[in-house]
Amino acid sequence: MTSSDNKHLGAGAVTTGWGVGLPPTIVTNADLEARLDTSDEWITERTGIKQRHIGGTTAELAIMAGKEALESAGLLPEDIDILLLATTTPDERVPGTSATVQNALGITGGAFDLNAACSGFVYSLVVAHGLIGIGAKRILLIGSETLSSITNMDERTLAVVIGDGAAGIVLEATEGPGELLSWDLGADGSLKHLLYCDHGGYLFMDGKEVFRRAVRIIVNSAQNALNKVGIRSEDIDLFVPHQANARIVEAARERLGISPEKAMVTIDRYGNTSSSSIPLALVAAIQEGKLKKGDIVLLSGFGAGMTWGSALLRFGG
Ligand code: COA
Repeated sequence: MTSSDNKHLGAGAVTTGWGVGLPPTIVTNADLEARLDTSDEWITERTGIKQRHIGGTTAELAIMAGKEALESAGLLPEDIDILLLATTTPDERVPGTSATVQNALGITGGAFDLNAACSGFVYSLVVAHGLIGIGAKRILLIGSETLSSITNMDERTLAVVIGDGAAGIVLEATEGPGELLSWDLGADGSLKHLLYCDHGGYLFMDGKEVFRRAVRIIVNSAQNALNKVGIRSEDIDLFVPHQANARIVEAARERLGISPEKAMVTIDRYGNTSSSSIPLALVAAIQEGKLKKGDIVLLSGFGAGMTWGSALLRFGG
């Protein structure tokens, strides 16, 4: 099956639990203003960010999110068949950070990392649904990132946009149709020079070029997912895009014809948290009563690679 053919989805899965893991330290724009050549006004206008959480390790944050997600699903660690950790900031080269998280949580099932940069959570969600289609019963899916560990925090360009954090969901196999209606995944590796981090180095981003492409990429991917099942953008109850820049979210939302109150925006409180940004926004939407069972929700992300991905869900099946 390619991403242009979603007709053969197997057994379905639904989200039954969720949780977040955030380091306690909050860094405000005023804090950055005090030590970098930047201003609250510039950061707010250009990015929409007001504060971000900084600190912890990718494993620590994932463990927090995983514990909360298991509790909220009413499950024990041994109920989980697979732990899937989306991250682009693993704590070690080898093994995957999922090994540390699996051990700390007491999960006895399989565990692996998935790196598709900021599209990682959407990629992982699609992979998780695939695994349930071939027999897995319960999957713990976490996005966890410590972008501050690969960012030069003394250099204003990226220091002001990144944040650390994790969020996860539990997906369980269900009798009826699952919540995934359609998906679209893509990549164009010829663009990897726009956003990368070499081993031992700092993150580099050609912000203008990424910005220029991001809106088109998100809109195309979202439309592909919608077209596959003939759902119109007006039918979407909630749009949960990758939170890289509030202006990108706004432009994509407008081009897709989604009304402003239906776009989930959490970049003001978390900054850009890569793989964690979509699940953090999704969990915020659930906890704030903006997403209810049966709602149509569209998740769309893009990131280094460049990668992109969209998943259209009828939340809760
Ligand atoms: N504080 C104050 N001024 C800053 C600044 C900062 N943190 N960073 C850059 N500037 C200045 C620049 O020096 C430049 O000044 P000049 O006009 O005097 O030369 C001006 O602000 C504009 O800089 P520019 O780099 O063109 O800013 P921008 O409008 O492109 O915004 C980003 C920068 C990073 C916010 C923006 O490019 C962006 O969001 N890109 C996409 C990021 C993205 O999607 N990443 C996610 C991939 S997952």
